[in-house]
Amino acid sequence: MTAIQVNGKTFEVNADPDTPLLWVIREHLGLTGTKFGCGIAQCGACSIHINGEVMRSCVYKLSMLTNKDKITTIEGLSDNLAHPVQQAWAEVDVPQCGYCQSGQLMAASALLQRKSNPTDQDIDNSMTNICRCGTYQRIREAVHLAVQIAKNPNKRKA
Ligand code: FES
Ligand code: FES
Repeated sequence: MTAIQVNGKTFEVNADPDTPLLWVIREHLGLTGTKFGCGIAQCGACSIHINGEVMRSCVYKLSMLTNKDKITTIEGLSDNLAHPVQQAWAEVDVPQCGYCQSGQLMAASALLQRKSNPTDQDIDNSMTNICRCGTYQRIREAVHLAVQIAKNPNKRKA
């Protein structure tokens, strides 16, 4: 059994230490918002936060965690969809098929932790998640709106 902290709770997981966190999260904890895309750290569909840093959970093994590490998945990003990126994504209506979007939100929220007002170039450089539907324009727009919402929670798109 391995104790892991996910979304503010501690779970005991009975899994092989080589199991990627993606499968621990989806299969053992039933948190299916984190998606499987490529399985080789390329697409970003499986993005989560570990101690606030965005990580690709398809290649992050259970054995790589320490008992102090705090994992956040899309389900734990906020209560009631209140995180500025969640509000901005809804306002801009970013998703098309939606498959990549929980990973995009995790990448965007980690970016805004590091950089409170990123440029388009910063967004393109640090958000390397693949969207097969090509929603990149709306993702950029939503990240900029999230900056405004973080400053003023009542802000809405003009
Ligand atoms: S499934 Fe992890 S990066 Fe694609
Ligand atoms: S919205 Fe369809 S893959 Fe991104």
